[in-house]
Amino acid sequence: MEKIVIEGKKKLSGEVNVGGAKNAVLPIIAACILNDGENTISNVPDLADVRTMMKLLETLGAKCEYADGELFVNSKTIDRYKAPYDLVKTMRASVLVLGPLVARFKKAEVSLPGGCAIGERPIDQHIKGLRILGASVQLEDGYVSAAAEKLEGTTVPFDLSTVTGTENIMLLASLSEGETVILNAACEPEVVDLANALNLMGAKIEGAGTDIITITGVSSLGPLRDYRVMPDRIEAGTLMIAGALNESDLVIKDCRFEHLGALTGKLLQTGTEIEKNGDSIRVRGSGEIRSIDFSTLPYPGFPTDMQAQMMILMCVADGMSVITENIFPQRFMHTAELRRMGADIKLVGNSAVVRGVAEIRGAPIMASDLRASASLVLAGLCGTGRTEVSRIYHLDRGYEKLDEKLRSVGAGIWREKE
Ligand code: EPZ
Repeated sequence: MEKIVIEGKKKLSGEVNVGGAKNAVLPIIAACILNDGENTISNVPDLADVRTMMKLLETLGAKCEYADGELFVNSKTIDRYKAPYDLVKTMRASVLVLGPLVARFKKAEVSLPGGCAIGERPIDQHIKGLRILGASVQLEDGYVSAAAEKLEGTTVPFDLSTVTGTENIMLLASLSEGETVILNAACEPEVVDLANALNLMGAKIEGAGTDIITITGVSSLGPLRDYRVMPDRIEAGTLMIAGALNESDLVIKDCRFEHLGALTGKLLQTGTEIEKNGDSIRVRGSGEIRSIDFSTLPYPGFPTDMQAQMMILMCVADGMSVITENIFPQRFMHTAELRRMGADIKLVGNSAVVRGVAEIRGAPIMASDLRASASLVLAGLCGTGRTEVSRIYHLDRGYEKLDEKLRSVGAGIWREKE
């Protein structure tokens, strides 16, 4: 296993590029199950989760090849509809093959993903949508078993905004008969990217990006030809926080400013300077970081995937910040590690009260989940002295070479064997 070592307090400056979005490419790979062709997808980040989704499709019979950001998926040979536990347990997003498998085979057996560090993460809304469209669904021996004689479009009212739930039903409804209307759909940009890819395959989806999505089913879908995945707004946001620390000055390239409104607004309130230049964002950290409150919400609200990273900035701000996590109430695993560095954080229900301190000190700390591990790297950047982050396989699930990107703009950061 590897660890990341950081000598903190260095002022970063220069340009970093953002890669393709993990949470967009995963459902787009799953969408290849819906056709029988040779799909090519570009701007695909080299992430553990992408490799896992490729392995999952290969388990189902597909042929996948990946090189230099280009992913090739031949879904003609897919002939199995069972997604095994040993793969699904490593990545919850595996649940995204459920809808496409039912659409292709009229049946599916997908292992229940189980909980993870950030919470129990049920899939009741996914199952509700499957049943409304005509599938019978049983939960037995840790698997979701679904079967359908006929899939008929109708209205699918979600009880809450769920990203992969919306995506699963969009995928299934694309090949169901008639019109499906999803009410209370998730509005995340990744949902829009999936809808764009599906429409290029020949699907008829309108309203993606709003809370009402209409899908008119078609009889078959063609392959994706060189679809370019959207930039990863969470990687971009993580790099923006790096630019806000240590009075750094970073230009973050290949990102979409319009996906980062909530984060940008909060960063401006802390005194961080932000300048948009086309598909780049320049971030300059201020000497005086002001404490602010924020709450995570579904898009376009403040993203839960940026909560841990923004907390780092609040740990070294000038006052008290109340951070409320409304999406995954247990998503505070990083706070215990930050306290080891001298951060002043008190958990109260689903909020964290953070009192800024003059300095946090480097220490050996341990990653627990993907975004927490990114926040621990950021903590190392602004911690005095040496920080060692262990279990960084969590980081490699969702960030491609984050340490190399930070080193290229002046961070004292490298990998060592554990
Ligand atoms: C997606 O997860 C993302 N993952 C997550 O990113 C992200 O944090 C999350 O959306 C919220 O934005 C992918 O897109 C692969 P949800 P998802 O369904 O779809 C509850 C990362 O770090 N819920 O939108 O699993 C759920 O418990 C990952 O990249 C139900 O109750 O999240 C949560 O409280 C972490 N029943 C809330 O809804 C359901 O059937 C939102 O979850 C589904 C969800």
